[in-house]
Amino acid sequence: MKKINVQDTVNKVGQIVELYGWVDTKRDHKKIVFIDLRDRTGAVQVVGGEEFKALSEEDVVYIKGLVKKRPDKMVNQKTKTGNIEIEAKEVRVLNKTKPLPLPVNTDGHDIDEEVRLKYRYLDIRRPRMYKNLALRSKFIDLIRQHLFKQDFLEIETPILSETTPEGARDFIVPSRLQPGKFYALPQSPQQYKQLLMVGGVEKYFQIARCFRDEDPRADRAYGEFTQLDIEMSFVERIDVMNLVEGMMIDIYEKLNIPIKQKPFPVFTYDEAIKKYGADKFDLRTEEDKKNNVQAFAWVVDFPFFEKTPEGGWTFTHNPFSAPKPEFMKDLLEKKNIGKILTTQYDLVCNGYEVGGGSIRNHTPEGLKAVFEIMGLSEDEINLKFGHMIEALSYGAPPHGGIAPGIDRLLTCITGETSIREVIAMPMSSGGRTSIMKAPSVVKEEKLKELGISLRQTMKQSETQKSVFENIKNLLDVNKISYKLIEHKPVFTSEDAAKIRGSSLSLGAKALIMKADKKPIMIVVPGDKKVDTSTFKKLYQIKDLEMATREEVKTISGVEVGAVPPFGNLFKIPLYFDQTIADNKTVFFNAGSHSKSISMKGSDLEKVTKPIVGKFSK
Ligand code: AMO
Repeated sequence: MKKINVQDTVNKVGQIVELYGWVDTKRDHKKIVFIDLRDRTGAVQVVGGEEFKALSEEDVVYIKGLVKKRPDKMVNQKTKTGNIEIEAKEVRVLNKTKPLPLPVNTDGHDIDEEVRLKYRYLDIRRPRMYKNLALRSKFIDLIRQHLFKQDFLEIETPILSETTPEGARDFIVPSRLQPGKFYALPQSPQQYKQLLMVGGVEKYFQIARCFRDEDPRADRAYGEFTQLDIEMSFVERIDVMNLVEGMMIDIYEKLNIPIKQKPFPVFTYDEAIKKYGADKFDLRTEEDKKNNVQAFAWVVDFPFFEKTPEGGWTFTHNPFSAPKPEFMKDLLEKKNIGKILTTQYDLVCNGYEVGGGSIRNHTPEGLKAVFEIMGLSEDEINLKFGHMIEALSYGAPPHGGIAPGIDRLLTCITGETSIREVIAMPMSSGGRTSIMKAPSVVKEEKLKELGISLRQTMKQSETQKSVFENIKNLLDVNKISYKLIEHKPVFTSEDAAKIRGSSLSLGAKALIMKADKKPIMIVVPGDKKVDTSTFKKLYQIKDLEMATREEVKTISGVEVGAVPPFGNLFKIPLYFDQTIADNKTVFFNAGSHSKSISMKGSDLEKVTKPIVGKFSK
């Protein structure tokens, strides 16, 4: 590779260099044109002439040029390459860009987050986002270096798994081989890492993805987040705390990030509540905040159980924890339950809970007692946790661990206001994935294979919503102007035309038909019919018939009368009668009986790419 990094150009004064990157900005001064060329290491000014006129911001270019020192008065102190510029000798456009839907040379905080996430692949071009991702990568690298030096093994645990209680809802995945049964995505690898201890691994860690269906907040990623999951055998509470504290101090020193107090202060839960009114608190002064000082603290001695609204008991943190040794007797005898303290330790930083862990119950009696206190029957315990209780009965070593939250630690270090700023492709707060449109509708046949049938009402409204959103999305992405008309439900072309206040001929009637048994979509004006013999001749089809109501629903996901002229969205061949494409305006139902869209016929043709012919009568 001949590419040199933009940041290295400063060391190449007087030399010819070859640069590859994006046009960050362009300034046209008639005879000379300046661009800033950006790659992931920075931006540098390049000077060109006529040949630069055709460049647009965000074009991908190759530039060969001479690195020159700038005259003193032209030096720009604000950028790392501000004392040089490149005199272009050759420029090649490697890929021309369309105008971007969002600027990428600002810090991006003021842009609507939904737009940023939809175009996340562009959003991460902005240097701030790249910096966050690079820091994340370095952070994980330093974690690995630290733990490998101490003989830890990095081990992956299953993602398709059984539910493990961490206090959130599970994401579940249907099984095809055993219809009617489901996997759960792990809320954490808690049980697996303990089983690794039973397996004699002694020192385990994993950069573990955890899945939790809980309401999003600024400090909580919806859907999935990443933990540094750790478990160790033959340890006591202080050993795990020391390991994590030592690791944080080592990593933060290497990253040049100041820590307020070393060793980290330790508060009991009672002290924290008395002093700060909460079990997470911010020890920083205003001055600390300015200097990006990180203020860690430990909180210990939490109550093990708390009352449920129904008057029973549930765990406060983790049911697999052991009580502090002096409370083991009470746990086993199920006495003084409200007074039992757990071995749980929480790590707090800048007001966030950035980690939590405990020493575990390593005897079957201890773990069983926890579930009994929580009111689980013998059968329930066996069904849900029988495997753990059994495993603990085969010589399980004493063990304990912790899981610092990587996203939260990085949010603290970067000072970002949202956890999503340190995740490459986070979910939106509404639970939609970045860029791709999950969750999405599944075809009837797939559901059938899985033995799943959706409740009717939900099925209809959700599918309609998604067809409508797919259309809207397609039009928005292609920057097509259209008008949305919401109206009373209509079921015929005539009623639709009336309610929209347009003529019948401007309606686009989308018919799902079967051509030689294969589904296709034919679109004709509302006042016309398909001339089947012409159509068959034109496209050499032997047999052409209407699809049944059921088939229409299976193919398009919507009811007859609401089908939009977007065969492309349903992945079936699409045919337009010439008059549709020629119409200045067309109206159609957008996947729902009560939503219509109007737009230019030529635009509709542009986004749906139909085969156009003359076959209406
Ligand atoms: P816990 O549930 O406390 O413990 O999680 C540990 C740490 O993970 C982070 N975290 C989150 N980060 C971002 N978004 C979320 N939705 C989210 N939820 C949790 C927090 C938290 O402190 N198995 C135990 C650990 C153990 O006992 O070893 C567990 O998962 O920083």
